[in-house]
Amino acid sequence: VVDIRKLYAQTGMFTLDPGFMSTAACSSSITYIDGDKGELLYRGYPIDQLAVKCDFLETSYLILNGELPNAKQKAEFNDLVTRHTMVNEQLQFFLRGFRRDAHPMAVLTGLVGALSAFYHDSLDITQPKHREISAIRLVAKMPTLVAMAYKYSIGQPYVYPKNDLSYTGNFLRMMFATPCEEYVVNPVIERALDRIFILHADHEQNASTSTVRLCGSSGTNPFAAIAAGVACLWGPAHGGANEAALQMLEDLLAAGGVDKLGEFVAKVKDKNSGVRLMGFGHRVYKNYDPRAKLMQETCREVLEALGLQDDPLFKLAMALEKIALEDDYFVQRKLYPNVDFYSGIVQRAIGIPTQLFTAIFALARTVGWIAQWDEMISDPDYKIGRPRQLFTGSPSRDVPDLDKR
Ligand code: ACO
Repeated sequence: VVDIRKLYAQTGMFTLDPGFMSTAACSSSITYIDGDKGELLYRGYPIDQLAVKCDFLETSYLILNGELPNAKQKAEFNDLVTRHTMVNEQLQFFLRGFRRDAHPMAVLTGLVGALSAFYHDSLDITQPKHREISAIRLVAKMPTLVAMAYKYSIGQPYVYPKNDLSYTGNFLRMMFATPCEEYVVNPVIERALDRIFILHADHEQNASTSTVRLCGSSGTNPFAAIAAGVACLWGPAHGGANEAALQMLEDLLAAGGVDKLGEFVAKVKDKNSGVRLMGFGHRVYKNYDPRAKLMQETCREVLEALGLQDDPLFKLAMALEKIALEDDYFVQRKLYPNVDFYSGIVQRAIGIPTQLFTAIFALARTVGWIAQWDEMISDPDYKIGRPRQLFTGSPSRDVPDLDKR
């Protein structure tokens, strides 16, 4: 590993690495990925074990604190998060300023940024207590904000959090209950969504997390930094891929389903078409994304529990995966399904509208963002992120008079 700071000090050299293909921007002890093996660890624990043995709040505790909670710590953490699920009543007036047909990620970017206008008492980032309470507030309030954005988009009244429900059960109720009809939480759906949250909780220095770190490195408050992360996540090459993957599968189904897969794959392989197989490929994984495997299992479980085992989209996705994994184009480039390939199918079965998929991702990733931000701020040697550039413009020249231009 080259210490770039030393290299620069000694030689005046710096590296040009567009897209950070081979440059680490920080050191971190939170999440480890071995892209060749297809391994993902949060604080040393494999994702497949966490997804089966823990719930999202236990996983959040682990990501934030470095160790899994014992029973007492778990109960206290659940209680702490639950006590912060409400948002300031004024926020609904801010929300009302948006068009009802605005994309939920546009709304969420605004709402999360607006939190810094409401929680002045936790903005001093030099105080560990402030950082801690901001982290709890963000984790606790994200489900409320996402559900509020959804309710607003369909013209229904907001549903307030109910503190005797689990984190995920509460979110489902805030999404789907109405003043006329209570929502009974289905444990299979609750567990599946909770697992989706676990799988998305952190993923080391991806684009949105790096955005949070860079934004936070100026010393801005955590709500502003997380809002920047939400904005970055929205893009189709990142969190927006789950929405795009489901859209791709739906379009394929409408165009003829399995019979059209060969034609579609040929189009993906044609670089001039501009078409990518959404939900496939990853900057780090050059093997099967372990989250995609768990997502595929969760998809099967949810569809079976809901009596939808013959779901044509799931069948189509499986057939498409099989064709791609046997095709030289994908084999040579080590392109495998990523977490987004199956997540849209599960979320659709749960009843979550497609437009909200990326907001669900943001909800889950908030804990990773805030843990990474806190890790950076807690480092006494952290510096403002300030990339250099390789200048390709004009050399110095004199400004001509107006009549000579
Ligand atoms: N479909 C078709 N070809 C692909 C795909 C794909 N999904 N992904 C990569 N390739 C090809 C590229 O065309 C390139 O081919 P070449 O070497 O012949 O030029 C090669 O594989 C390498 O691809 P890059 O774009 O250089 O890889 P990079 O690491 O920059 O991109 C990314 C990774 C953005 C995830 C890419 O694979 C992609 O666009 N996938 C589809 C979108 C997606 O699913 N995003 C979600 C990622 S996971 C997440 O954010 C949670």
